Amino acid sequence: MTSLHVDPVTFEHHRDPLGIGEAAPRLSWVVRTELAGWLQQAYDLEFSDGTAIHVASGDSVLAPWPRRPLRSRERLGVRVRVTGQDGSASGWSPWSEVEAGLLEPSDWQAGAVAPPRELLSGAPLLRRDFRARAHIVSARLYVSAHGVYEVEVNGARVGDDVLPPGWSSYHHRLRYRTHDVTELVREGDNVIGATLAEGWYTGRYGFHGGVSGIYGDRTALIAQLEITYTDGSRDTVGTDDGWRSAPGPVTSAGLYDGEHHDARRHVPGWSSPGFDDANWHPAELLSHDRALLVAPTGPPVRRIETISAVAALTGPDGETILDFGQNLAGRLRIRVQGPAGHTVSLRHAEVLEKNGALALRPLRHAAAHDAYTLKGDGVEEWEPRFTVHGFRYAQVDGWPGDLDPGDVVAVVCHTDLRRTGYFESSDPRLNRLHENVVWSMRGNFVDLPTDCPQRDERLGWTGDIQVFTPTAAFLYDCAGSLSSWLADLAAEQKQLGTVPLYVPWISLDPFREIPPTAAWGDAAVVVPWVLHQRSGDLGLLRTQYASMTAWVDQIAGLAGETRLWDTGPQLGDWLDPTAPPERPFEAQTDPGLVATAYLAYSARLVAETATLLDLAEDAARYHDLADQVVTAFDAAYTTAEGKVAGDSQTAYALALRFGLVVGEQRRAYAGRRLAELVQANGHRIGTGFVGTPLICDALTDVGAVDDAYRLLLQTECPSWLYAVTMGATTIWERWDSMLPDGSVNPGEMTSFNHYALGGVADWMHRTIAGLAPAEPGYRRLTVRPIPGGGLTRALARHETPYGRAEVSWSSDDDGFTVEVTVPPNTRADIHLPAEPEPIEVGSGRHVFHVAGAGLDRW
Ligand code: BGC
Repeated sequence: MTSLHVDPVTFEHHRDPLGIGEAAPRLSWVVRTELAGWLQQAYDLEFSDGTAIHVASGDSVLAPWPRRPLRSRERLGVRVRVTGQDGSASGWSPWSEVEAGLLEPSDWQAGAVAPPRELLSGAPLLRRDFRARAHIVSARLYVSAHGVYEVEVNGARVGDDVLPPGWSSYHHRLRYRTHDVTELVREGDNVIGATLAEGWYTGRYGFHGGVSGIYGDRTALIAQLEITYTDGSRDTVGTDDGWRSAPGPVTSAGLYDGEHHDARRHVPGWSSPGFDDANWHPAELLSHDRALLVAPTGPPVRRIETISAVAALTGPDGETILDFGQNLAGRLRIRVQGPAGHTVSLRHAEVLEKNGALALRPLRHAAAHDAYTLKGDGVEEWEPRFTVHGFRYAQVDGWPGDLDPGDVVAVVCHTDLRRTGYFESSDPRLNRLHENVVWSMRGNFVDLPTDCPQRDERLGWTGDIQVFTPTAAFLYDCAGSLSSWLADLAAEQKQLGTVPLYVPWISLDPFREIPPTAAWGDAAVVVPWVLHQRSGDLGLLRTQYASMTAWVDQIAGLAGETRLWDTGPQLGDWLDPTAPPERPFEAQTDPGLVATAYLAYSARLVAETATLLDLAEDAARYHDLADQVVTAFDAAYTTAEGKVAGDSQTAYALALRFGLVVGEQRRAYAGRRLAELVQANGHRIGTGFVGTPLICDALTDVGAVDDAYRLLLQTECPSWLYAVTMGATTIWERWDSMLPDGSVNPGEMTSFNHYALGGVADWMHRTIAGLAPAEPGYRRLTVRPIPGGGLTRALARHETPYGRAEVSWSSDDDGFTVEVTVPPNTRADIHLPAEPEPIEVGSGRHVFHVAGAGLDRW
């Protein structure tokens, strides 16, 4: 019996569509059916107000909102049913509810309420009493802050966000959250309370000692609680002049330095009715720009899981060190009993020195030190709330009595993205490498895409996410989250006149001047382009188009008539293995070559974007620019036979992948030369941030698959698996963040959790397992597994916008077997080893067997 079902409608990229900022949210749905080759013919949408619409269209991903835009606060149910080209018809999907947030600045009455200056240290408390009338139907809290906050209503925590409102370019965009607090508000006396800490707004942030008060010197809460009654009337309680403030138990809280909590200072009942706040200080009402408040487009940071220690170790000075077996971003939760006033101290590090002590040097100016002073009234549980650390090891000092490792758990915190991508193979080392990539993504999506989660940096470095987006978009649904970051990028770019090196931009030494930088600034073009390919979100390209063109126009201007961008400071192929520890930009590959290659690539992507947006003139102009840059690159950097200047792995990877070597013979020569270089280097990697995500693809394109596999499976340093053999559980910043003798690289910049070099995972998904998008959003798939490296099986699975796609293959003496799952409403082209032509299939499960005798299909 075959069935045809539709999952509930989703809105934009939201996981929880409460308080969204889009008045006309695009709608998506996933169809579930065993009907072979199912394609959608039409759909019906029904809304909870009784309206309905029939649309003759095969679109099921980000379909246009078909009715008048939502008004602020408007809530609506939606359901869908579909008909297939084969005449099949589904029933209605379950209802989904969407609710608009506050869409206009004028919807905001709340001011910004700040604790008085004398209470600014630590995390002060704020509270306000209010009364609610009878017959409440719903209550919503719209909330944001200058700083980071936790809110309570009548003694209960509202929501489970970690470090809200996250970090955005606060002077351009400040995100607010919408919470349903209907269950917390009651008739009569109520209290709303908040704890406020510095976070990114006023806290010390940035390398070289950083800066404090980046956005201002006052933390403040912006909250608007709206209570709706059965008669339709509404009461609003906002941050106004009725708030009071007092110190709380948190005596200091910094993102880098950690949190100190003195439980003796806990104020019982402070956020519940009946509490006497007469000796609290009046809070100050500050003005703020309501036009900056925006609803989030992605999920918040949350506690995702807890991890127990795998070992309790003793350091060289007898210190107790817990090993959580996994490098992660998060913090510890402790359960402790002891005398009042006793302090437990927790220090965090990613690795140990050779002598077994915590390696704190790589943290630079981040103390990563939490401390808890006991109240002494029995078993106490504590987890810091306003900080996060990157660590695998924790040193526990001052534990009263014997430490039971079960009393300390690591709480993993990151953006609550939906996991969408998986990979497995017959080689456990590759599986670990892949796990390390996943963990480095988790560690570096703590609200914004960062370089690292542990040291005094944690900035939204543009180059890192530029090279990692293809991998990120496979592993997790990050389109909503990165759209927000791209909005910040565009806003900063507009103000600064170029794409800064990191977003949000804060002015730090030595980057007070912002030189346009290739591969970093190109994030403006590449990130939206890749997200569109993977999610099918054409609207994102439309939104980012001005930013994309502004970047390409700017760098084309820098290249000038010569069409070579070979001036100005560059980061180049950052951190290639030959770069000296303290001069990571001194890579083998000419930075002018890197920059010119990226100019050609970005110009081409903008041209293709213009085509998609029906901007024919722009398309022609940017194609022309890209062609000119290719010609200039060819003349400047490539010999007549096809040798590329510098003769480095990255130079060839760029030239081949970005189509910069003209002519088949010359291309073949360049391909051979790349393979020779890789072989001559003993199949050890020779690339940095720029070349690393490209090299295996470049080798595959030119038929040197075996070399790509040998490079990937190399275990000697430098290589991907070197770190795995050294026990890595995340991707390292440097190929040799830990040296073969087990010591930490002496470079001042040595992180053990940087995702950039993990960009190879995208090749693993597309080539080893063979699952790639052929059309935006995977509406068409390319299935092209290319076995090698002695692997006997591999699998990739991706929750595409159309549903689950999976490719798995195995090979044995009988031949090669591939199983493919193609989601409804998509098609796939299946390329099998030794089969000259692809086989086109529709949705369903397909099995192919290639034996000596040829292809079997069933
Ligand atoms: C960061 C990088 C970044 C680089 C560029 C480093 O400090 O950690 O990942 O891209 O600087 O300068």
